[in-house]
Amino acid sequence: MYDIHAHILPGVDDGPDSMEASVEMARAAVENGTHVMLATPHRKDVTERWSVGHIVGLVDELNARVRAERLDFRLLLGMENHLDTALPAEISAGRALPMNGSRYILVEMPFFGRPEFIDSCLAQVMDLGLVPVLAHPERIEAFQRDIGLLKEFVGLGMVSQITAGSLLGRWGDEVKGFTSELLEMGLAHVIASDTHTPGEPRPPGLAAGAEAAARIVGTAKAQAMVASTPRRILEDLPVKWPQE
Ligand SMILES: [Fe+2]
Repeated sequence: MYDIHAHILPGVDDGPDSMEASVEMARAAVENGTHVMLATPHRKDVTERWSVGHIVGLVDELNARVRAERLDFRLLLGMENHLDTALPAEISAGRALPMNGSRYILVEMPFFGRPEFIDSCLAQVMDLGLVPVLAHPERIEAFQRDIGLLKEFVGLGMVSQITAGSLLGRWGDEVKGFTSELLEMGLAHVIASDTHTPGEPRPPGLAAGAEAAARIVGTAKAQAMVASTPRRILEDLPVKWPQE
């Protein structure tokens, strides 16, 4: 499986605080069936406290550590980019990274409210030739209040990434129910872990989430959400939604 949203780099954001814990997360991911993971540290933590060079170095170091342990695991680099008015300029400046250098960029909308700048900012990101991958829309108030907004963004070509834990009730029954609704409506395209910790509360696994999704949309679609679709994103190929 391919996991496109993970806070695995040590000491950068609210993810693990040591390289040992990062290696433990890689090990847990492999045990759960994930062999390629995209490190997505929060953009502002990187640019305000560290640098892009620093996280590039951490990815290299972690890959060397997992290779030494003979783990079948490869870490790629992206970022979780807060959507704010600075984002388009930060992309152009190379301080907001797309996913593994592809046309896709992981974007996190504000959790609360529905600021006016959202639509124009996303349009500017698309004008740069990028495809926004919306991080966990099921946890974003603007979408919870108006599913039509997500429908509109998906209609514009954006990708919707739900979090495995949402399907398992990690954020309560309301978020769980809304996530099911997104699946039923075809408004969820990829399942990612958004892992922060080697074990609970935010473990790296995708398997249980994929099983839960399979009960709603069937095995083929659920599998595509953790395998072919995220792989195509990381390989910079056009995404194809699972067929009916
Ligand atoms: Fe995240």
